[in-house]
Amino acid sequence: MRVFTGIQPSGDLHIGNYFGSIKQMVDAQDNSDTFAFIANYHAQTSGGKDLSKLTMQAATDFLALGIDPEKSTFWIQSDVKEVLELYWILSSFTPMGLLERAHSYKDKTAKGIAANHSLFSYPVLMAADILLFGSEVVPVGKDQIQHIEIARDIATKFNNEYGDILVLPEFRIQEEVQTVPGIDGQKMSKSYGNVVNIFGEEKKQLKTIKKIVTEQVALEEPKEFENCNVYNMAKLFLEGENLIALQERYKKGGEGHGHFKIYLAEVMWEYFREFREKREYYENNQNEVREILTAGADKARAVAKPMIEKIREVTGIKY
Ligand code: ADP
Ligand code: TRP
Repeated sequence: MRVFTGIQPSGDLHIGNYFGSIKQMVDAQDNSDTFAFIANYHAQTSGGKDLSKLTMQAATDFLALGIDPEKSTFWIQSDVKEVLELYWILSSFTPMGLLERAHSYKDKTAKGIAANHSLFSYPVLMAADILLFGSEVVPVGKDQIQHIEIARDIATKFNNEYGDILVLPEFRIQEEVQTVPGIDGQKMSKSYGNVVNIFGEEKKQLKTIKKIVTEQVALEEPKEFENCNVYNMAKLFLEGENLIALQERYKKGGEGHGHFKIYLAEVMWEYFREFREKREYYENNQNEVREILTAGADKARAVAKPMIEKIREVTGIKY
């Protein structure tokens, strides 16, 4: 089964990104034909500041966190330009009304982002990404479901005209992944300024973790762990006996939330140790990252080429 996913290069990754998205992608590599790319054209729609640097940062981060170029096809969107041709062709199968109804366009313009054409036609480029590679399943967050539905609508219109050429993609929502809370207990998100980054400095990370909002309970008193923001973050990194042991420490009393925060910082630091080492390696070997991306783009293009050729033929663009 072909599982397809795109990620915008948008800066430092936080543990919500890891548990909510990246880890699923890495786990999927073992039992599906995974296609993962960095959506740098899409990132232009939200300003595109420092795009080149952020694109390399995202590639480095994803490789460090376990995207394996042997198992997955991993590339940068702009390296397989066939997608832009398909984007144009699909535009003729995209009614204006379909795009006018897109929530993400309405939300972004309501937030003050300039209402330019690329923001408006964002879902068409996303449809081209998905359809160019014959993607069957697209794991996404809830906010992206409508984009997959738009891709299906466009594909259906195209197929009605030219026959069964495009595969209709299905979205997949990771129900079991709960929302990772931020340091204030709300959903962790860059836009709320409540994140704990994956690749921060150790001291800085401890400082952030110390800011986690907790209940005021006297040191000697037993404490509730179920609704504690520190515990809810720690449980992402712990299992079995270690998790039970932490619960016992809460129930017993005699320790304050400050102790649990220090423990969380240690556990987290240990959890990401191997990833950090890999990141440092790739950071110091950016040429190797570039080579991986070039090879990935070649692999992706080998799938894209026959598809775009066929589309050029049926639409009469090929003459
Ligand atoms: P942010 O909200 O920080 O801007 P993004 O919207 O870029 O994060 O999210 C990228 C991916 O990470 C998405 O697939 C999203 O589902 C996942 N993700 C982000 N924050 C969380 C969270 N707090 N809990 C679970 N998953 C998350
Ligand atoms: N729009 C997606 C996001 O913001 C990124 C993306 C671009 C994507 N093209 C895609 C996701 C194709 C899945 C499939 O998260």
